[in-house]
Amino acid sequence: MADDLFAKARSAMRRAHAPYSKFPVGAALRTTDGRIFAGCNVEIVSFPEGWCAETTAIAHLVMDGGGRIAEIAVVAEKLALCTPCGGCRQRIAEFAGPDTRVHLCDAAGGVQETLTMQELFPRGFASESLG
Ligand code: THU
Repeated sequence: MADDLFAKARSAMRRAHAPYSKFPVGAALRTTDGRIFAGCNVEIVSFPEGWCAETTAIAHLVMDGGGRIAEIAVVAEKLALCTPCGGCRQRIAEFAGPDTRVHLCDAAGGVQETLTMQELFPRGFASESLG
C-alpha cells in the first residue's frame, strides 16, 4: 500500500533544489482521510536557511486545510535509508500519532523499512509539556 507513496516521494525528489549538498530528498505523506502531499528539499545559498523534503510536504498539508498523517515515505537517492532529521521528526509529530508509519525507502527498490513514530521519535516534546 505504501508503493504509491514511494512513487510520489521519488518524483518529488527529482524536483529537489539541492545545488549545495547535491543530496536530493523526497517525501510523500498520506493523511488519515486519504489525501497525499509530497515535497522536496529546498536549499539556498545562505545554507542554514534551506529546508527538508518532509517540511515541504507538511506545508502542502497545512495549505490544504491540515489533517493527521497516517503514513509518510522518505527517499534520498544517495542513501539506502534516509531517516527524517531531528527537526523533521518533531514537525511530523505535530501532525502524527504514535502509530503513524514512517517508510524508509531506497530510490531503486522502494520501501525497505517501516517504523512507527513511537519507534522513531519516542519522548518527543509534546503540547502537555507546555503546561
Ligand atoms: N534533508 C531532507 O530533506 N530530509 C531529511 O530528513 C534529511 C536531510 C535534506 C536537507 C539538505 O537539503 C540535504 O538533505 C542535506 O542535508
